[in-house]
Amino acid sequence: MLDERVRTVLARLEEEDLAERDAGVPGAQRSRQIAPTTGRFLFALAASQDGIEVLEIGASRGYSSIWLASGARLLGGRVLSLEHDPVKCTAWRENVTAAGLDEWAELIAGDAFATLTATEDTFDLVFLDAEKDDYERLFALARPLLEPGGLVVADNVLSHVETLAAYSAARQADATLSSVTVPLDRGLEISVVLG
Ligand SMILES: C[S@@+](CC[C@H](N)C(=O)[O-])C[C@H]1O[C@@H](n2cnc3c(N)ncnc32)[C@H](O)[C@@H]1O
Repeated sequence: MLDERVRTVLARLEEEDLAERDAGVPGAQRSRQIAPTTGRFLFALAASQDGIEVLEIGASRGYSSIWLASGARLLGGRVLSLEHDPVKCTAWRENVTAAGLDEWAELIAGDAFATLTATEDTFDLVFLDAEKDDYERLFALARPLLEPGGLVVADNVLSHVETLAAYSAARQADATLSSVTVPLDRGLEISVVLG
């Protein structure tokens, strides 16, 4: 649940994000975090399944990880987050600890392509929020880690439609999935693996 520690860290990260945008800090140095309503949506998905196993690709400073982990904690699930920027990894650890979510979220620092190739874990929910040009290849690596009923949520499919229309079209054409574009904030492609 969104306890006081979680709310405090989320509010601080939202203030920092706004201040950095106003100051014109380049994208690569900002958190590029999801919108708060997308966070609420991810919280609901993560909270909806007993013992949920969540994989997050592109964790930045932990804003979306905190939403996911506070949802997963409700029924004893956990989140595995992937991030390759060392500065963001340090901030992620500080923020997740400050939110009191260490027990429910773990960070693997390094290139997601290498991490995903090496993992044999399976997941119930994958949140894809890395570089848009990489979505197709990252999806291909995450797909074998999902069993029937597993969900993939990809952010930015409407804000970056010129890059990601092909991603949405490919998911919607895949007979092993049911996929829909949800026009929430920057646009989410939600794909469920069929039996
Ligand atoms: C849009 S930001 C993620 C924002 C985060 N999900 C949030 O809402 O707080 C994308 C992140 O993906 C990371 N990233 C991009 N490509 C990656 C890769 N191949 N492996 C690991 N992390 C990657 C970037 O460093 C960046 O922090």
